[in-house]
Amino acid sequence: MAQETSRAVGPVVLLGPPGAGKGTQAKRIMERYGIPQVSTGDLLRENVALGTELGQAAKAVMARGELVSDDLVCTMVRERLIQPDCKRGYILDGFPRTAAQAGWLDALLEAELFDNSRPTRAWPIVVRLDVDYNQLLLRITGRRSCPTCGRIYNVHLQPPRVDELCDEAHATKLVTRNDDRLEVIQPRLVAYEEQTRPVADYYQRTGRLISVNGDLPMDEVTALIFRILEDHHA
Ligand code: AP5
Repeated sequence: MAQETSRAVGPVVLLGPPGAGKGTQAKRIMERYGIPQVSTGDLLRENVALGTELGQAAKAVMARGELVSDDLVCTMVRERLIQPDCKRGYILDGFPRTAAQAGWLDALLEAELFDNSRPTRAWPIVVRLDVDYNQLLLRITGRRSCPTCGRIYNVHLQPPRVDELCDEAHATKLVTRNDDRLEVIQPRLVAYEEQTRPVADYYQRTGRLISVNGDLPMDEVTALIFRILEDHHA
């Protein structure tokens, strides 16, 4: 499908438990609409890899599968969203994840509604990917990613052409994320149930939540999301 870059798309929030497919779908929305993926998980992992102050504060928390503090994450998101590439819209992948983060985002967007210099100026389209528990486990334990191009694979569900090597980035060896270890998966799922499910409930109450069957094959999930975005702008 051709890229659509002529209009503002507005903020898109992707919600869903670990392994639901948020990152996978965010990359496809990014390619289709030319707006950036703002993944708080990726930003935090970059900071950990670079050894920044934020990365040092986040490293142990992430390794335990817990959530990084709201203050640190919101500051990081604010810095990212003021970048020029976010002007036409952006995809929030993994944010907001707590009630406090959702309140912070609403306050930010409410201020923008009165700022004529921001072309997006809209409430976010909130899409939640619903996925069966056993499917989540299969997706998380099988996930591998390319450290060069960021492409995501799954050894059970979407294996690369050659075992453990990226199809695209000159056969770079794929890596497993530090928090995809079995002992960290359960705390991540608990954090989702306890801290992030209320965020979805909040968006549901305010009439902004659209649920998508994330158990479907990737292309079908993508088609459903594109339809939602098109309907929203029709
Ligand atoms: P983060 O990086 O956000 O991880 P997550 O939410 O646990 O989500 P994942 O990245 O595991 O899954 P995904 O939904 O993106 O799935 P993917 O597309 O990769 O966060 C990591 C940590 O950072 C947190 O634990 C926390 O410590 C910290 N953090 C991040 N944000 C924070 C915040 N806002 N506040 C506080 N702390 C924060 O797909 C998974 C696999 O399934 C892949 O192998 C893929 O190929 C496969 N797959 C995807 N879709 C399909 C499909 N339809 N059919 C078959 N297979 C599929």
